[in-house]
Amino acid sequence: MGHEMETIPSGLPTIWYMGHKARVLDRIASACEGLVGAGATVCDLFSGSGTVAHALAADHRVAAADAQAYAEVLARCLIEPKPFHPVELDPERDLGARRRQVETALEAAFEEALREEARFLGGPMDADRFEEYRRYCEATPHVNGVLPPADLIPASFRPARSLYGPPWGEGPPRLFSTYFANAYFGLAQCVELDALRAAIAQVGEPARRAVYLACLLAAASASTSGTNHFAEFRRMETPAAARQVVGRRRSSIRGRFAVELARLAQTWSAPRHENAAYRAEWRDLLGDREGRFPLVQEAELFYLDPPYSPANYSRYYHVLETCVLYDYPQCLHRGRYRQDRLQSAFCSPRRATGEMEALLGQLAPRGARALISYAESPTALIGREDLVAACERHYRTVRVEELPLAHSKQGRPSALRVKELLLSCEGSR
Ligand SMILES: C[S@@+](CC[C@H](N)C(=O)[O-])C[C@H]1O[C@@H](n2cnc3c(N)ncnc32)[C@H](O)[C@@H]1O
Repeated sequence: MGHEMETIPSGLPTIWYMGHKARVLDRIASACEGLVGAGATVCDLFSGSGTVAHALAADHRVAAADAQAYAEVLARCLIEPKPFHPVELDPERDLGARRRQVETALEAAFEEALREEARFLGGPMDADRFEEYRRYCEATPHVNGVLPPADLIPASFRPARSLYGPPWGEGPPRLFSTYFANAYFGLAQCVELDALRAAIAQVGEPARRAVYLACLLAAASASTSGTNHFAEFRRMETPAAARQVVGRRRSSIRGRFAVELARLAQTWSAPRHENAAYRAEWRDLLGDREGRFPLVQEAELFYLDPPYSPANYSRYYHVLETCVLYDYPQCLHRGRYRQDRLQSAFCSPRRATGEMEALLGQLAPRGARALISYAESPTALIGREDLVAACERHYRTVRVEELPLAHSKQGRPSALRVKELLLSCEGSR
């Protein structure tokens, strides 16, 4: 994980996700078959991009859970049964009117700033233009930055000044345009994101809303001007970096959204079981006594793919979380992270081993089997020996497979070789 990044080679709408398992899905599915029969209920407790849950749903009833809201949306789209085939969806009918309404309002408020951006993105870029564009981006106001006095805000943004604060319910929905413009996305892209997000919010049918929202997440993930995640945004310090940023910002979010929807329609096959997606931390999920997560109670096997390095997913994907929650959060630091973001114990060098131990200590007494993915790499917080020992304290039979995985390092050609361990645990002690 950490800086390792790979694309997910799938036709499904999903995000670019660190540590995803797209290349080893077959191995995970066959290890799963070795532990439970077809049709058994399996819970993917750290579902992330939803790709493993989706693969397992071919043969099993699946509960997918993750602490992050965006992961729940992705899994809901990928594995839950729907009262429609995605090919029947008509985004113009479902989203068109509200999208246009919000777009018109934001385009009016940001008229001059958008015109300026269009001049930069539309024309040829030499070194002087890059420098001008970089200055334009750095001067763009944003919420939670210190909003400068009106006379220091660039003239082109001044007409929108009242939008940079509460009450958020008044005026057009504007979270992306006022938090992330000219940082993670271009301004026109942010207007598109706000308009589509607002239109999706008024879709009544939950399954339809989840499909549209998952496609918007996929579009945002593919269109960020950064490196496919949101831990920081590119500063355009060199012409090469600026060229890449400009290239990304020339693309249309709405166009990408349509592509994601079309890909889903092409690849969709109706789930064979009543699968379900949940958002909860694993402790809350397993400890639930109110019947909020019914499939989890019935799970015979838990697939565990927790983070293995100090890099918290909530830092890398905070913009996607905010896209789902759309709650105008307090943000911190250069990367504009949500203040309330999850700090997972699996990412703490001090707590990771204890957290794994606690989790296995809850699964084994339920009579549930466990299938664990964990990296064997220099950044892994639990060493192989400690991991196997923890499994053996709770299960009588522990089998370890090694799956070679090469993670590219943020697009740089050198590949970081990590071994992926797959541990099958059964027979609780
Ligand atoms: C390695 S990723 C899972 C990747 C996933 N298997 C895939 O193929 O996309 C780890 C996931 O664990 C989630 N996570 C971290 N701490 C958690 C916790 N305490 N409870 C539930 N989920 C957690 C993160 O949000 C992240 O999505």
